[in-house]
Amino acid sequence: MSTFFSLTAPLFKLSRHRFSDSDLRRFADLVRPCVPPGGRLLDLGGGTGDLGLGVGKALGADVVVTDVTPEMLRRVSAHPSISVRLSAAESLPFPDGHFDGLICSDAFHHFRDQEAAAAEMARVVKPRGCILVFEFRRKLSGRVLVPLEKSLGEPGSFLEPDELQAMFARHGIRGSIVQRGFLTYTFAANRD
Ligand SMILES: C[S@@+](CC[C@H](N)C(=O)[O-])C[C@H]1O[C@@H](n2cnc3c(N)ncnc32)[C@H](O)[C@@H]1O
Repeated sequence: MSTFFSLTAPLFKLSRHRFSDSDLRRFADLVRPCVPPGGRLLDLGGGTGDLGLGVGKALGADVVVTDVTPEMLRRVSAHPSISVRLSAAESLPFPDGHFDGLICSDAFHHFRDQEAAAAEMARVVKPRGCILVFEFRRKLSGRVLVPLEKSLGEPGSFLEPDELQAMFARHGIRGSIVQRGFLTYTFAANRD
């Protein structure tokens, strides 16, 4: 349970428009090959669920938002195609192969056991399902975000793109870095 996110949940909701329409379309296009209309999408560490809802609407998919912070999940907008589950990424309450696709935005570096989370991501997504991870690079984070996040009680375990790609490959999730900026990157992959 993160006190930091319990306190900042209202700010995340207030800043929900940080995902532009073109961001939502870009994320949706990357998972569309695996997530048909009516398919199942998991927004892992989804917080207030605004990215998951936007992507889910673009796909016509059903979205489950999971998170460890109740104050975040309480702020997920009501919509017929969205539901929430309070659970840790390291131990997900879903059967094997339950989801057609999974998105994880700005959350993986908060997971305390990243290997366990990657194993769970592989387990709950069906074979050849899509997995999309949006993250911040350590190059900048090492100087600014890591000390800041650690001072707030967060792990701040930022990975560089090649490190993240290698970690997921160990769990049978293989893909490429489809966006690599100075600050951020996006990893798009499929489960074996
Ligand atoms: C920076 S927020 C990002 C939220 C959302 N994905 C977004 O892009 O707006 C990180 C989220 O990860 C969640 N989180 C941290 N550790 C977690 C864990 N082990 N399992 C699931 N969620 C976790 C936090 O509660 C928080 O809501």
